[in-house]
Amino acid sequence: MLNEQYEKFAKLNIYQIYPRSFMDSNNDGNGDLVGIISKLDYLKELNINAIWISPFFSSPMVDNGYDISDYLDINPIFGTFDDFKKLIFEAHKRGIKVIVDLVANHCSTKHRWFQEAIKDKNSKYHDYFYFFDEKPNDWQSCFYGSAYEFVPSLNQYYLHSFAVEQADLNWENEEVRKEIRDIVDFYVENGVDGFRCDVLDMISKNFNNPDGNHNGPRLHEFIRELFDRPHLKNIFTVGECWCTTVENLVSFVGQDRHELSTSFQGDVVNVGINNCDKFIKGEFKYSDIAKNLDKWQKISQNEDFLYTLFYENHDRLRSATQFASADVSRYQLVTGLATMMYFLRGVPFIYQGQEIGSLNSNFSSILDFDDIETKNYYKDHVNLLDESEIIKRLNWNSRDNARRPICWDDSTYGGFSNRDPWIKLDTNKDLINVKKDLLSENSIYKYYSKIFDLRNKNEVFTIGEYELVELNDSSYIYKRKRGNEEFLIIISFADHNKINTYGFNQIVLSNSKYKEIPSEFKKLDAIVLKK
Ligand code: GLC
Repeated sequence: MLNEQYEKFAKLNIYQIYPRSFMDSNNDGNGDLVGIISKLDYLKELNINAIWISPFFSSPMVDNGYDISDYLDINPIFGTFDDFKKLIFEAHKRGIKVIVDLVANHCSTKHRWFQEAIKDKNSKYHDYFYFFDEKPNDWQSCFYGSAYEFVPSLNQYYLHSFAVEQADLNWENEEVRKEIRDIVDFYVENGVDGFRCDVLDMISKNFNNPDGNHNGPRLHEFIRELFDRPHLKNIFTVGECWCTTVENLVSFVGQDRHELSTSFQGDVVNVGINNCDKFIKGEFKYSDIAKNLDKWQKISQNEDFLYTLFYENHDRLRSATQFASADVSRYQLVTGLATMMYFLRGVPFIYQGQEIGSLNSNFSSILDFDDIETKNYYKDHVNLLDESEIIKRLNWNSRDNARRPICWDDSTYGGFSNRDPWIKLDTNKDLINVKKDLLSENSIYKYYSKIFDLRNKNEVFTIGEYELVELNDSSYIYKRKRGNEEFLIIISFADHNKINTYGFNQIVLSNSKYKEIPSEFKKLDAIVLKK
C-alpha cells in the first residue's frame, strides 16, 4: 500500500519545461520565466498539476544551464528572482506545483567555489572538488574524452563527469553537503514543491570502480542526509539514476527508505535505441515497449513504490520520431502510445511539445546544432564517417531535437519570439504547431487533456491495482482496479485485430473515436473501457 504522502505524489501530472525554448516574453530569442507564466492557463487546460522546469539559474550555458555558476540567483536571460516568485505564485494560484532541477553532482567551473579552488590549493574550496596529482583511473566523460582535466597553475587534474566546464563536487566534504542542503532549503522557503535531482546516482564516488562513477558507497547516506529532514516531508523528489538494477532502484524509492519519491528508469525509453551508440537507430516492436511497461508495473506494485511514466525529456529524441512506423499516422501513434502508458500506475511526465506530437527536425549542417554532447560526438566522428552519415545520426538522436523552441503557431518565429531564437526553429513548424493542433479534429493536446482529466477524476488510475490481461505481439491489454471500479485498457499492435474485450462494454476513451466496440481493431488503436 502506498502511504498517504505517496498517494498524493501518485496524483501528480507533471509537465517538463525547458525554459530557454518554451516562450520568449521579451523577444531576445530566449524563453523566460515570464513566458512560462503567460502559458500557465494553457497547461491548466491540459490538466497538468505540476511543472518541472529545467535549470534557470546563473550559468555560462555550456550545458544549457546544467552548469550552474550561482545556485541562488536567476540567469538574466530567464528573468529575475521576482519573476520566479511571481511564477510560483501564479502556478500555485492555478493548483500547479513547481518542481525545480537540483544539479548537485557538479557545478560550473565559473562558480565562485571553483574559481577560489584553482587560485589556491590551501583554500577551503579546493576540497570542494576532486583534485589529483595523477589521474586515479581512466574514467571517460559522459560527453566524450577523459573525465580529468589538467590545471597547469595547480599542476593537478580535476574530475568532470560531464563537460570540462562542469567540475564534480566532492560530496565527501561535509561543507559541500551543507551547501547543497542550504540550496534545497532556500528554494523550499521560496515556495518550491519538489526537486528533480540531476544524475543523483553519481554523487558518491568509488575511484576503484573501472566502470565509472555510479552508485558509490555513500550514495544512500548522502541522499538521506539531504532529503530525510522533517520540513521536507511533503516535498516531491525524482532522481535521475540511470544505472539502476531492479534491487537498486527499489533501494532509492522504497517508501521505507526515506530517500526519493521516485526515480527515472530507462528501459522503456531505450526501446529502439542502439545500445552501443545511441546515435544509431535500433530495431523495435511496439510490444517491446509494452513488455518493459508491464515488467515495471509488476515490480513497482510488488515492491510498493512509484514508477515514472515518460517517453521524452530534454535529453532525448522526440517519441513520435523514435516510435514512428510507416503505416501509422502521427495522431494514431502518439495517442496510442499515450493511452498505453498514462493509464498505468506511476507518476506521469510529459515533455513540452509532446502534447502536440512534435517530431525531430531535419538539418543538413553541424552549424544547426548547439548541444555540447552533439558537437563532441561530431568532433569524435568527423574523421571516421561520412558527413552525411554523421548528420543523419544527429538528426536521429541529438539532444537538440527536443530543445528547439515550441512552435505556438506557423508565423515566422513560430509565435515563440519575434526574432531568430537561440537555436534554429523546428523544421516542422508549418505542419506541427500548437494553434494548428488545437484547431484540428484530431487534436493530440485535447487527447492528452482527456487522459489527465481521467487521471485527476478517478483514483483507480492513480492508486488502483494493475493487472495484466494479455500481452503479445498483437496487443497489450491491462486492467486497473479499485474497489468495485474496473477499467480495461486495450492497445492493438496490428491491423484487422480481433480482440476480446472481456465483457467491458462502455467506451470511456478511444483514439479512433469509436462509438461502439469494433469487431476488428487497427494498428495502435487504443481504447479505455468500463463495464
Ligand atoms: C543530466 C541532464 C543533462 C545534463 C547532464 C549533466 O543528464 O538531464 O541535460 O547534460 O545531466 O548535468
